[in-house]
Amino acid sequence: MKIALIGCGNMGQAILSAIISKGVSIAEHLSVAEVNQACREMTAEKFGVFTTDNGVDAIRRSDIIILAIKPQNLDEAFKQIGGKFSQGQLVISIIAGKCLGTLKDGLKYDAIVRAMPNTPAQIGYGMTVWTATEAVDGQQMAQSRTILGAMGKEIYVSDEDSIDMATAVSGSGPAYVFLFMESLIQAAERIGLPHDKAYEMVMQLMSGSIRYAHSLDKPLDRLREMVTSPGGTTAAALGVFANGNLAGLVEEAVTAAYKRAKELGG
Ligand SMILES: NC(=O)c1ccc[n+]([C@@H]2O[C@H](COP(=O)([O-])OP(=O)(O)OC[C@H]3O[C@@H](n4cnc5c(N)ncnc54)[C@H](OP(=O)(O)O)[C@@H]3O)[C@@H](O)[C@H]2O)c1
Repeated sequence: MKIALIGCGNMGQAILSAIISKGVSIAEHLSVAEVNQACREMTAEKFGVFTTDNGVDAIRRSDIIILAIKPQNLDEAFKQIGGKFSQGQLVISIIAGKCLGTLKDGLKYDAIVRAMPNTPAQIGYGMTVWTATEAVDGQQMAQSRTILGAMGKEIYVSDEDSIDMATAVSGSGPAYVFLFMESLIQAAERIGLPHDKAYEMVMQLMSGSIRYAHSLDKPLDRLREMVTSPGGTTAAALGVFANGNLAGLVEEAVTAAYKRAKELGG
């Protein structure tokens, strides 16, 4: 696949790395348009790909064009690359909050995939949720799945509202997980554990619990019950979470994120 990246910062580097390491494409077929000279030079040296500061040059060499710039740079990019696409090309945007309508108008092109990855995608453990315009054909859908799947797991959804929902769950989700971990470390320190030990315990607790859940493949409430003896320590802690309505608070938080995603997407 001949693929171009417009913008090659944190996510662009991660996508490039995933595409090459998973064998989705080869360096000779990859092009990067990047305005930051230091980043451009580093990318050329690290991956051996064609680099340019001109988006149109990268687009001309490619079948699939991935937009990986910040939302605030999109209007400027529209001026450079809007109307420069030809039939048969596919655009994949990972830009948070920019809906298909905005992308179609600005790019003056209609075969577009909108994807919402999360930060673990940078190390190949991402959750990317994506949708596509009607102009994206079956082959391009399969190619999108392959590219986005190189960064971890991918889920296709048929409507953009589900992208906003996914933004509130898996997109913002890493921050929720880290907040819970921070709180757990802080609580461990308050009851007397040193920070480094508390940190190690919580890190291993999280990764171990997730692996355990995957390996047993049982419902999460069943796994929770398996740790909870009546009148025991876990029951004492879970009672406090229930009294504070942890589930209700999580629901409120996710609903607030969903609402904000819809507002930002216009
Ligand atoms: N980071 C994540 O884990 C994550 C997760 C989900 C979604 N996203 C989305 O991914 C996108 C990229 O995020 P990021 O963290 O990778 O951003 P980033 O590190 O700032 O990378 C973007 C790069 O694009 C360059 N650039 C700006 N305008 C350009 C243009 N017209 N043509 C070519 N290059 C241009 C920027 O240069 P300058 O710095 O000089 O402007 C920068 O080097 C964002 O829209 C974000 O919403 C990121």
